[in-house]
Amino acid sequence: MDSLRPELIEFHGVFMSHYFTDNWDNVQNFEARPDDIVIATYPKAGTTWVSYILDLLYFGQTNPERQSSIPIYDRVPFLEIFVPSIDTGKDLADRLPTSPRLIKTHFPVQFVPKSFWEQNCRIVYVARNAKDNMVSYFHFDRMNNVQPEPGDWSSYFHRFMEGKTVFGSWYDHVSGWWEKKQSYSNLHYMFYEDLIEDTGREIDKLCNFLGMSPSAEEMERVTGSVQFDNMKKNSMANYSTLPVMDFKISPFMRKGKVGDWKNHFTVAQNEEFDEDYKRKMKDPSLQFRTEI
Ligand code: PPS
Repeated sequence: MDSLRPELIEFHGVFMSHYFTDNWDNVQNFEARPDDIVIATYPKAGTTWVSYILDLLYFGQTNPERQSSIPIYDRVPFLEIFVPSIDTGKDLADRLPTSPRLIKTHFPVQFVPKSFWEQNCRIVYVARNAKDNMVSYFHFDRMNNVQPEPGDWSSYFHRFMEGKTVFGSWYDHVSGWWEKKQSYSNLHYMFYEDLIEDTGREIDKLCNFLGMSPSAEEMERVTGSVQFDNMKKNSMANYSTLPVMDFKISPFMRKGKVGDWKNHFTVAQNEEFDEDYKRKMKDPSLQFRTEI
């Protein structure tokens, strides 16, 4: 499996791996439909959680067999993925039978295929505080054989701050999408920490954005199904069916908490991180919580 591990490459100014650039032309020419819904995130920010929420809201009642038979990564294709022996995200998206189609991307905003903007598609962006995002990404890179070798924690910590991770700088990603929100009204920007604090409230806001009004009973069902423990034991939501991941090293549904960074950052690393963060994150309107 180790042979699958790619190098980090610089691509149009962003650190990437070839698995997400090899299909570039096809992905850039993707033909969006006006009712497509894009779930955009920096990796490990809560993509699967929000994908599952959306899938349940749209198809939980009309198409319940989807939930028990199709893994979430096939229900919500990862547009730019191009990995041997796994269906390409672009093909899966093209073949999706659902309406709307739910489509996942980790692209920074400037890489999003233009058709999504032309069709004025709705986009849900999920952001997670950098410290927990970094920790989650570190463990993911350890267990996922199609990600570059993460090395030890201390070197990973510095590379993350330098933007040398697949999909590039966390700082540029969350800021780029935040800026886009100011000019593109069909973008709903969510925070992982808010979802942890009050999942029901955040689903309400999401429904408001999507123009949906589920019944109280339906809301309760969705909120219950997407709780961490329920998703962790659900083989259609927990990625256990994907062969490139080694759950013996670390499970996909790992901890699902705000503040796990405290178990990883040393005091010195935390100070170094905070200093650097202040220099990089200048927009006072974009605030993250590292504890709740
Ligand atoms: S990926 O690979 O980029 O699609 O990963 P992504 O889904 O964005 O992020 C995985 C992290 O999200 C956590 N997660 C959840 N937390 C709380 N509640 C629910 N329901 C939930 N579902 C997924 C998952 O555990 C990963 O975070 P860590 O901190 O590693 O546990």
